Amino acid sequence: MTSSSERWAPVHAWLQAYTGMALSGAQRRRMDARLEALGHGGSPTQLAAHLRTPAGAADLARLVDAVAVHTSEVFRDGVQLTAFREHVLSPRIQRSKAPLRVWSAGCAAGEEVATLLLLLAQEGADPASRVLGTDISEQVLTRARELSFSAEALRHVPEGPRSRYFEPKGRRHALVASLRAQAEFRRHNLMEAPYPEAPGGGGFDVIFCRNVLIYFTPDAFQRTVRNLGERLAPGGVLVLSAAEPLLQVPPELRLLPSEHAFFYVREDAAPAEAPRPKRDSGRFPSIAEPAGPAAPKPEVPPAPDESAMAEADWLFSCVLDGASTGVPDEKSERDLRRCLDLDPDHVAARYLLGLLLEQCGQPAAALEAYRRALRAVESGRARPVPFFLNLPRLRVACARAVERLEADGAR
Ligand SMILES: C[S@@+](CC[C@H](N)C(=O)[O-])C[C@H]1O[C@@H](n2cnc3c(N)ncnc32)[C@H](O)[C@@H]1O
Repeated sequence: MTSSSERWAPVHAWLQAYTGMALSGAQRRRMDARLEALGHGGSPTQLAAHLRTPAGAADLARLVDAVAVHTSEVFRDGVQLTAFREHVLSPRIQRSKAPLRVWSAGCAAGEEVATLLLLLAQEGADPASRVLGTDISEQVLTRARELSFSAEALRHVPEGPRSRYFEPKGRRHALVASLRAQAEFRRHNLMEAPYPEAPGGGGFDVIFCRNVLIYFTPDAFQRTVRNLGERLAPGGVLVLSAAEPLLQVPPELRLLPSEHAFFYVREDAAPAEAPRPKRDSGRFPSIAEPAGPAAPKPEVPPAPDESAMAEADWLFSCVLDGASTGVPDEKSERDLRRCLDLDPDHVAARYLLGLLLEQCGQPAAALEAYRRALRAVESGRARPVPFFLNLPRLRVACARAVERLEADGAR
């Protein structure tokens, strides 16, 4: 007898391609319950075909809502937002007073759009600036258009901006009308062309796409990054979440060094053959390059001492920097393995190794890397690392990756 999940496999596969999401075991189970509830008389293959037709649109929306994760908060990840404000937004507004065109891709119930509107207002951006919020789920967009939030969703908003930019609306808190007028919401699936145009054309100055790609298959992840990059104006900035570092930065993007976060800037239109600017490893100023050549690989890795840990951190920062200078995967893998020889509990390196192996089509090895990283965090062995990929973020990212690969049958 086939299990419910096997029975619905054609629908799972189609929905995975349609949304870009790598469905975890829990998501598949939620979807199966919805599929049973639809009571569609035909075979799973006929149902997959039905979902592609206009008559199947409402059923499709229900299935997407069964698997999409809409968790969000206003001012989510204050460390990254502070770095964004300091290194991206403030310099941009000082350079030019022109209105900004900002896109929150995968905006959930509008929390990120409200965050961006607040930041623009606080930095004194032109009030003609616009923030577009898009999401695959029409249901969550209906809530987003209200731009009103529970106290829980606002818990990271400091008291000053909270009382200045929000007003009570029943038991909720609505963004003030002047900021609401700068927002627009539209349904858009990141797996589908065309991508939204910035008002007036010419690309977006800023695109936020945080905590969306972490749910995607590696292929959907890469494709989306490329497509988002193409929608940036020259000098525009792409912001992913801290758990979504790029191991290969597309050629038209450049990594903007910042100690607490990473941003990707679209290069000004330059001839393709122009040499890339040589960059130093400015993101990790506290980490010095170790003196002398690396020691030969020992048979049994010694317990990491201070110099081993410094070298491990340095190798790790080289891998992140290498992502934007086109370093081949083999070199990144070598550096990550050397880093892990020096410090086997360097969780950020182990997580990156997992991402790399997954992208190189080695899901079983990737799964093992994620599992080991997760064990190191959970056992308390992992030392805190001075990177934006901090331990709480890594715990979530690794757990998520393990769940995803296990559901895919990578063992
Ligand atoms: C976890 S929320 C992230 C919200 C916000 N960006 C943040 O960081 O707090 C992920 C959102 O991505 C949306 N999403 C998932 N797949 C998508 C796709 N293919 N196209 C557009 N949005 C998608 C989901 O509906 C969900 O609202």
